[in-house]
Amino acid sequence: MLIRHAPRFTASEITDPKLYLSRRELISGAVAALALSPGPCESATPQGPSLSATRNAAFSLSEPATKAEHATTYNNFYEFGVNKDDPSRLGGTLRPRPWTVQVDGLAHKPKTFDIDELIRLFPLEERVYSLRCVEAWSMVIPWIGFPLAPLLKRVEPTGQAKYVEFTTLLDPAQFPAQKPGFFGYSSLDWPYVEGLRLDEALHPLTLLTVGMYGRVLPNQNGAPVRVVVPWKYGFKSAKSIVRIRLVTEQPKTSWEKASPQEYGFYSNVNPAVSHPRWSQADERRIGEFRRRETRPFNGYADQVASLYAGMDLKKNY
Ligand code: MTE
Repeated sequence: MLIRHAPRFTASEITDPKLYLSRRELISGAVAALALSPGPCESATPQGPSLSATRNAAFSLSEPATKAEHATTYNNFYEFGVNKDDPSRLGGTLRPRPWTVQVDGLAHKPKTFDIDELIRLFPLEERVYSLRCVEAWSMVIPWIGFPLAPLLKRVEPTGQAKYVEFTTLLDPAQFPAQKPGFFGYSSLDWPYVEGLRLDEALHPLTLLTVGMYGRVLPNQNGAPVRVVVPWKYGFKSAKSIVRIRLVTEQPKTSWEKASPQEYGFYSNVNPAVSHPRWSQADERRIGEFRRRETRPFNGYADQVASLYAGMDLKKNY
C-alpha cells in the first residue's frame, strides 16, 4: 500500500502485492518458511510480561491462530520502515512506558490517562479476530484489550461529536522513519492518523488492544496501545496511540492524504471493490499457501452491515 519517493522502492512495493505474493508462493516451502521466520536478531514471539484475560467466546473466531512468530515478524508499521521485518528488527527504539493517552475533543469530561491506569480501568478480554490487510493477506490473532465504547462513554461525548480520530506518537527519536531523509522514508504525513465514525468506534467489536498471545503488546504490533477494527482493512487499526479525539468533521487520515483514490475513509473489507492496483476478492492467511475468498466485512457482516444501511459502499470505499 506504499507510495514513496523514488527511487527507494523495494520489490514488494513496485509489484502488485498479489503478484508478488503469488511469486513468493512458488518458492519452495522451505524458503518461504524461512522468509517468515524470525532472523537472528528478532524476537520470535511476544517476549513481554504475560497478561491474563478471559476469552470472550462470543467475539472470537474458532479458527486456529496464526503462529505468534509470524504475527510479530511480518508487520506493517511504517514508522519503522517499509519492509515487513523492519518493525521487529528496529522496534526496540520505541519506549512504551511512561505513556499517556489523551481522550479529548468534543467531550464533557476529557481526560489524559496513564496507560497503566487505563489498563486497570476496564476488564481485559481476549478476542480472536482475523485482521485482513489491504495488501490481501490476513492473520488470526488472539488480541487482549477492552472495547473502546466504555472509554469513550467515560469522557462523555457532546452531541456534536460525530467521528473519532486516533493519533500515533510523533517522535523521530523513537520512530526512525519519522526522521526526514530516513532510508525507506514513506510519503506518509506523520503522525499516523486514522479515524472512525462515532457509531463504528462505539461498536462492541472495536477493541482497544494492549496485548496479544497472552502477553503485553510487542512494540512492532503497536505497543502500548492500539485499536483493532476487525471488519476494516488493517490500516484502520492505528498503533501506538497517544490521542483519541472526538470531532465533528470526518478526520483526514494519513492514507487518504497520501493516496485518496486508493485508500478511502471507510475501508470496510469488501471483496466486490478492488483496490485500483489489485483485486480484493481473495487473500492469503500468513503461514498458509492456498488463497481464501475474502468475505464482506471480513466475515463480520452480521454484526456490522447495518451500520452502513442505505450507503453506497462502492463510493464510500
Ligand atoms: N499504525 C501506525 N501507526 N503505523 C502503521 O504503519 N500500519 C497499519 C496498521 N496500523 C500502521 C498502523 C497497517 S497497514 C496494518 S495492516 C496493521 O497496522 C498491521 O498490524 P500488525 O503489524 O500488528 O499485523
